[in-house]
Amino acid sequence: MRVLVTGGAGYIGSHTCVELLNAGHEVVAFDNFYNSSPKAIERVEQITGKKITFYEADMMDMAAMNRIFDEQQIDAVIHFAGLKAVGESVKKPLMYYKNNLEGTLTLCEAMQNHGVKRIIFSSSATVYGEPAFLPITEDCPKGVAASPYGATKMMQEEMLTDFHTADPEWNVILLRYFNPIGAHPSGLIGEDPEGIPNNLVPYISQVAVGKLPELGIFGNDYPTPDGTNIRDYIHVVDLARGHVLALKKLAEEPDVRIYNLGTGQGYSVLDVFHAYEKAVGHELPYSFKPRRAGDVVSCYADPTKAEKELGFKAEFGIAEMCRDAWNWQSKNPNGYRD
Ligand code: NAD
Ligand code: UFG
Repeated sequence: MRVLVTGGAGYIGSHTCVELLNAGHEVVAFDNFYNSSPKAIERVEQITGKKITFYEADMMDMAAMNRIFDEQQIDAVIHFAGLKAVGESVKKPLMYYKNNLEGTLTLCEAMQNHGVKRIIFSSSATVYGEPAFLPITEDCPKGVAASPYGATKMMQEEMLTDFHTADPEWNVILLRYFNPIGAHPSGLIGEDPEGIPNNLVPYISQVAVGKLPELGIFGNDYPTPDGTNIRDYIHVVDLARGHVLALKKLAEEPDVRIYNLGTGQGYSVLDVFHAYEKAVGHELPYSFKPRRAGDVVSCYADPTKAEKELGFKAEFGIAEMCRDAWNWQSKNPNGYRD
């Protein structure tokens, strides 16, 4: 298939481009580089030995979106582009609602103008809020959005569902990611946050490489075995492969299909920290800090539906996730910046 990857230079987008190219798909991608680097695209081409047709473009730019669909015969869209920093979204809600919602509406309008009605959307386990039960199945009721970022994910899910209701030819897959971490085993692409990282593994990586003094663990008094939060961490390469499998599903009868992409295995913050220490080969500094606002206690998937319907099963465990995160960070201490 010829697939349009929005946000293709980003963390999950770049890893998905690799898996799409390796699976024999043609990749057209765009990004405005708000949170990414053109180098990611070059490195994807280096890893695969294949070319991406790339556009530097903003998804809020209607003319640019129409141009891409005019010039390329797109079969399906994988939609990663968006702003994703939970804390920043609380401070800048206007920017988040505008970019994520207006951007998705503009993209979808361009799709509709060109008769392209197949889309895979990057949603998040954040839509479950404080989960009603564990492990989380796709039937778990949606929770209350803990941030404007989370609200945009819920609204985008609803918008895409409404498109299908109004026009049953729209074929929509909503992938709810749990916590993607790690990097491509080559060490050529990985997660490269701007400034001080908000997320756990990028933060530990910067402690390990000596850029930050210690990890602050947000809360050790949660009702979990070691008192720290539990999450379902998934290797980004496994997650990327999930998108390739989802593309196959788009060949079936149009519908709105929802899948959790996780491993089904929960790990605490301390579990991840110690797994990372093992990957590095020595102890790392940390201290306990107060709880972070908005954190749910525990969040892990029941991955049965994705396994049954997509044939998806995560292959990598926490040791490989930390090994590959460290491989990327130690080879690229400044990310894509020289
Ligand atoms: P990322 O920031 O690395 O990638 C997103 C890309 O979109 C970036 O390259 C950015 O420059 C681009 N972008 C943003 N706004 C744009 C615009 N208006 N026009 C064109 N490009 C634009 O983030 P990621 O971790 O790769 O996440 C990809 C998607 O998955 C996002 O939608 C995110 O919300 C979602 N998601 C991520 C996680 C996670 O933990 N990383 C979890 C759940 C869901
Ligand atoms: N944590 C720390 N110290 C840090 C950073 C994180 O202790 O410096 C802890 C958090 O308190 C949490 C765990 O590590 O318990 C994981 O935190 P992350 O920020 O890495 O991930 P979250 O589970 O909060 O959020 C992620 C994505 C969101 C998404 C959400 C739910 O970043 O985009 O999962 O899917 F919405």
